[in-house]
Amino acid sequence: MSRRLFCALAAPAGTALAAAAAGMQIFCQADETPGGAKDSMKEAKATNTKWWPGQRQKHSTRNSKVSPAPHGDAGRGRGCVLAAPRDTFAHPQVCDLTGWWENDLGSKMLVDKIDSQGNFSGVYHTAVSSTQKPIEPSPLVGSQHLDKDGLCTFGFTVNWKFSDSTAVFVGQCFGEDGREEVLQTSWMLREKVDSQHNDWKATRVGRNTFKRVA
Ligand code: BTN
Repeated sequence: MSRRLFCALAAPAGTALAAAAAGMQIFCQADETPGGAKDSMKEAKATNTKWWPGQRQKHSTRNSKVSPAPHGDAGRGRGCVLAAPRDTFAHPQVCDLTGWWENDLGSKMLVDKIDSQGNFSGVYHTAVSSTQKPIEPSPLVGSQHLDKDGLCTFGFTVNWKFSDSTAVFVGQCFGEDGREEVLQTSWMLREKVDSQHNDWKATRVGRNTFKRVA
């Protein structure tokens, strides 16, 4: 997993508690990833497994400690590993989109490693759709500024795999001084219409707020 240092340890409950106290994160081999994310996750493809945070941090901050995973997650036979928290090696004021985010609709996205120019790719799992088709995880590509003040603007495009639509998001990172990281975004969703006559109704706009899941 990008930017995470995995220990090659199974995580029994006692270990999980100790690890949590040390500020480490617990990643478990989930039975199911949100939105049916299966083959689309590059990491899952690479490792032939699926990883999901052992517990959700409702009020996570980059500098916050992780509370122990609920009994039943940590140390179960599904296989958990310990990961150094993302802030172990990061500078607190730098906006780094890498990781899992969830928005106010319940949609989740995974942003992979950001390159030196601020370019990134990832997977978007929308919780809602204007189509009747089954939702599928869809790829995203984007770029962000790399301002050291942590207030970077960014944008990304989602090419929906289950619909003819395309969405673009623009936004800005917030999370100064150790506060919870929040992405404030605006989006436009372009639907396919059969003629220019219907062009007037093809574009929706909205806003989403994302918070870090892991
Ligand atoms: C479609 O309905 O054609 C594809 C899915 C669109 C999902 C939209 S994109 C903007 C908004 N934010 C989300 O997380 N999901 C919806």
